[in-house]
Parts: sequence; C-alpha cells; structure tokens
Amino acid sequence: MNAAERSARLAKYDVAGPRYTSYPTVPYWDATPDETQWLAHLRTALRAGDSPGASIYVHVPFCRALCTFCGCNTRVTRTHAIIMPYVQAVLTELALYRERLDIAQLGLGELHLGGGTPTFLDPAELDALLEGILGAVQLRPEARLSIEVDPRVTTAEQLRLLARHGFRRISLGVQDFDPAVQDIVNRVQSVAQVRSVTEEARRLGFNSVNYDLIYGLPFQTGASIDLTMTAVCELRPDRIALYGYAHVPWIKPGQRRFTEIDLPEGRDKRALYERARDRLEAAGYREIGLDHFALPTDSLWLAAREGTMHRNFMGYTEAFTRPLLGLGVSAIGDAVDAFVQNEKDLQQYHERIARRELPIQRGHVLNAEDQVLRRHILNLMTRMETRWSGADATPFLDDIATRLAAFADDGLVELEAQGCKVTEAGRGFLRNICMAFDARLARSSPERPLFSQTA
Ligand SMILES: C[S@@+](CC[C@H](N)C(=O)[O-])C[C@H]1O[C@@H](n2cnc3c(N)ncnc32)[C@H](O)[C@@H]1O
Ligand code: SF4
Repeated sequence: MNAAERSARLAKYDVAGPRYTSYPTVPYWDATPDETQWLAHLRTALRAGDSPGASIYVHVPFCRALCTFCGCNTRVTRTHAIIMPYVQAVLTELALYRERLDIAQLGLGELHLGGGTPTFLDPAELDALLEGILGAVQLRPEARLSIEVDPRVTTAEQLRLLARHGFRRISLGVQDFDPAVQDIVNRVQSVAQVRSVTEEARRLGFNSVNYDLIYGLPFQTGASIDLTMTAVCELRPDRIALYGYAHVPWIKPGQRRFTEIDLPEGRDKRALYERARDRLEAAGYREIGLDHFALPTDSLWLAAREGTMHRNFMGYTEAFTRPLLGLGVSAIGDAVDAFVQNEKDLQQYHERIARRELPIQRGHVLNAEDQVLRRHILNLMTRMETRWSGADATPFLDDIATRLAAFADDGLVELEAQGCKVTEAGRGFLRNICMAFDARLARSSPERPLFSQTA
C-alpha cells in the first residue's frame, strides 16, 4: 500500500468512536438499577464463584495542579483538610456494601487505586485508607494491588508504605518528555523524577512498572516522540500505555487552554503513534491490545497470550475479577450484567454517604443483547478475534458480515463463517472494528459529540 492509499484509509476511519472500556458505553446507559437491584446483581456475581476474588477500584480525585490535557475526574487542591473526610467516606462506602451484602469479609483478587493522584495523599492518609480497606477484606493469595502515581508528588516513604501493604504494580504518569509539550500542557517533569520513582519502586520489590504516555498532544512532533521513546526505552518499564490524546473540550473545558491548531490530527497524529509503536517494538515491547504494550516478561503479556486478559474501566487487567466495586467519587462498578457509576460531584458524594446511601448516580442493567455484544467487544479488545454462534448470537449479528465487509476489503479483518480475526494492519483500527458490534451506536448516532476521534 502506498502513502496515498494509507492516507485515504486513515481518513476513512478517522471518526469519533468509543474506547470500549465498557459495553454499552457510558453515554448509552439507560437503565439505572436502584440500590436493591444493584445489590442483587452483586450478590449473583459473588455467588457465581468463577472469579479469583472480587475487585475494588478506589478513585482518589485530588491533584496538585491541572494538566490541561486531562480527561479524568479530578479535584485540584493544595489543602489536605479535605483528605481525611474523603478517606472516611470511602471506608464508609465499603462498610455499607459489606453490611448490605451481608458479607463479613470480601475475598479480594484485585485492588487498584486510581485518580486523580492517589499519591497526593501523604503517608498517614494513604496508610489510613489502606489499613481501612485491607482490614475489611480477605486478600486472596494471588491478589494484585496496583496504584497510579504522579512521579512529581511521589516519595520514597509512600512507596515503602505501598510495598509494605503488598503493592507490586505501579503506573507512572509520564505523558511526554519534550519541554515544549510539557510546558503547554502544564505538566513539567524531568526524566530524573521518573527515573528516581522507577528505581525506588523496583528496589522495593514492585515487579510491574507501567508508564502512561500520550500521542497527539499539542506541539508534539516526531522529534518529541523520539526524545520520549529514547528515555522510556532506556528506563525500560514492564508495560506501556500509549494513549491517543482524547480531545473532548465540551466535557473538559481545561482542554480549551491550548489552541486546537496546535494539535496533531488525522494523518499527523497517526504518524506519531506509528513512530512510537515502531520504537517500542524495536526495543522488544509487544502490542497487547488497544494502546497497550508490554515486555514478554510481564504478567500482562502472559495473560494476553493465555487469553485471560480483561478490559475494564481501568484499562487492561490480567484477569476478569468480578464483581468490581467502585469506591469514591465517580467510580464505576461492574457486576457483569450491570454497571453503576457513583456521584461525580464531590459534595454530592459526601452527602449521599452521610445519608448512608450507596452513592449511585447512574448505571445500566444489561439486556440479553447487550450481554452478547459485550462479550464480542471484549473478545476483540483482548484477543483480537471473536466467534458468533449459539449463545453468542443475537439478531443484530445477522448482518455483521455485511458491516465488516469494508474492513475485510481493506485488509483489517479476516472474515470466517461465524467469526472474525483482526489482522496486523487492523490493530490500529480496533475501535472502528468494535463499532460494527455496537448496536446502540448503530441505532442512535449521537446528535452532539460524545467520543474522541479514533485516529
Ligand atoms: C488519571 S491519570 C493518573 C495518573 C497521575 N495522576 C498522573 O498524571 O501521573 C491516568 C492517565 O490518563 C491519561 N490521560 C488523562 N487524560 C487523557 C486524555 N485526555 N487523553 C488521553 N489520555 C489521557 C494520562 O496518560 C494519565 O497518566
Ligand atoms: S494527568 Fe494526572 S496529575 Fe494531571 S490532572 Fe490528570 S489526574 Fe491530575
């Protein structure tokens, strides 16, 4: 394929589309369970007993300053006065679940602290949160404890505390090392800061270090990617999340602080991704799914190879631990056939907890079709292939071959009688391929923008 053909293919598939951390995607949730129904879904998932323990995700929204690209639910603050009340609220939320599910100790397979910036909490605050959670659950022997950190605010004391509590996986926000890019996104951090947290974590026994990188940031060029990749490959994290910058200023007004003309788009943005991918592959990393790479020694790569890898609101995980309890403001829970999201406003979250209510703001109970399509989208996202027959068929899939025909003609999927495989060339268009399975999107295209571009 020549450059003009590649460019035409890219333009054809550069549309707004979801990242499919859930199906149905959040904007299409339309059947919120009430508290009683949500608890019933959780009980069913817990009884199923087919999971290596449940999962807990704790959202810690606090950050010292706003990175202007940020699409996460954050609360910028300098004061620590609001931290302990928040920790208490999260622990109360967990206690409400245990009480209402009538379980003395939840068997836990996975705990993830995300944000925001969990290491905004000082060691005493972090300790109170972890003591509270870990004291209320029964950790499974293989349990995985992980945390997202901002290297600019992460200290050796916090890392020691995390290691003592059993954390072995850590994810550092790196984004880009080019000073011009760092300046415009208000995220100035040095290679030395990232190196120091990486080395200290490894010394303390963390055996999987992930870096979050972003392509498509304002002012980013091929030279910025080269500079970032040289430093990253030298530091050699076990995993890399290489996110396409999601420009959603109608949801995140902070992103209006730079001019859109400075954003690499379409072909230019894709070229940045390809350059980064080529550098990572040359350094021994393997692409394991949408936006994610790992060294062949990392457990996520092994999970990808063995077919146990899962994708949820936190990205890719090694196993489908279920149910997932989301604690804290805006956190999302998953009971396999139902989702809920907590209040996104901190004040509302506190008020609901003070009234001893589960702070559910919205959610979705999956109907039979949703459940089938969820499995297909999950298969594609985690295994690059899926098969539709028997229990995995639903009328929406009757003409799936027709919807996938254009992808097959463009060499992005291989169609079989009752299944499809994403080709090597198709990996970069995974979101578009999943969109062919998205009945809700097909039935009601959004009137206003909901998703970022897929390129
Ligand atoms: C919630 S942040 C947590 C990390 C930590 N607060 C830090 O910044 O170091 C998780 C990751 O989401 C990614 N991210 C945030 N906003 C994004 C956007 N608009 N587009 C793509 N990725 C984004 C960044 O790579 C970031 O490291
Ligand atoms: S990228 Fe991280 S530190 Fe920056 S605003 Fe978002 S959550 Fe906070």
